Amino acid sequence: MTKQRKGIILAGGTGSRLHPATITVSKQLMPVFDKPMIYYPLSVLVQAGIQDILMITTPHDQAQFKKLLGDGKAWGLNIEWAVQPSPDGLAQALIIAEDFLDGAPSALILGDNLFFGSGFAKTIKRSVKDTGGATVFGFHVKNPSDYGVVGFDKDMNAISLVEKPENPASNYAVTGLYFYDEHAPKYAKTVTPSARGELEITALNEIYLNRSELRVELLDEGTTWLDTGTHRSLLAAAQFVAVMEDRQGIRICCPEVESFRQGWLTKDELLTLAEPLKKSGYGNYLAKVAESEH
Ligand code: G1P
Repeated sequence: MTKQRKGIILAGGTGSRLHPATITVSKQLMPVFDKPMIYYPLSVLVQAGIQDILMITTPHDQAQFKKLLGDGKAWGLNIEWAVQPSPDGLAQALIIAEDFLDGAPSALILGDNLFFGSGFAKTIKRSVKDTGGATVFGFHVKNPSDYGVVGFDKDMNAISLVEKPENPASNYAVTGLYFYDEHAPKYAKTVTPSARGELEITALNEIYLNRSELRVELLDEGTTWLDTGTHRSLLAAAQFVAVMEDRQGIRICCPEVESFRQGWLTKDELLTLAEPLKKSGYGNYLAKVAESEH
């Protein structure tokens, strides 16, 4: 029987494109409007129904992440910890996670990726149930050369994947959320470092593509995928969250709320989490959800 899918969040890297803001604070702990960046990818895994999560950080940032998330129990999650000693590529996350996964399929998400939209929630809930092979998510962008890019044949079947191509085959970037079957750690070990010295996630995805085991789900226009790699894109992400939240009077991508909606937190547990956060308004929102949605 296939094991339950486990989650991996990769929050490594030096954040050098955000220096000096990220010299002493990990990029993925920086706020995106009202909450730390890491809450956003965490909320995606929780929405997908994934409760067992491995957090991979740099060795020197781990203590701060642990202070924020601990073992996850207070949020109804099981969080385990690992380090990536140096930024040697995203595919290395699967090798680091091998013992944690213990033969289970996985969902890898990058600690700096923000996803939002009702269509997106439906897509991931469907894809999380896929068995065998891998699933990646394509999103139409203006600047595909900054990302991994999917090329398609005339019937929109994915036929190529290229990391940061000079001449992109399409405008579809591969986002930082990847669903893999149980073979991913084994395949990741066969990936050799690229010209920039990294074990590229695109190389791992190409292994699945060449085996005809890669699904490419295109995210619709109603979905927002934001990256936070530069000062300007980080500000834009914060503004997006502020506009959404102010207009609708809700808060988006709160892991505690998603966990409550999964039934992994009781009303009382969510109220307990809300209490110390009331001064910022975040706690009031958690309390409102606890009172209105149980
Ligand atoms: C990485 C991946 C790239 C992907 C992107 C998504 O890029 O290598 O394929 O499209 O994440 O955020 P990097 O963050 O290393 O520039």
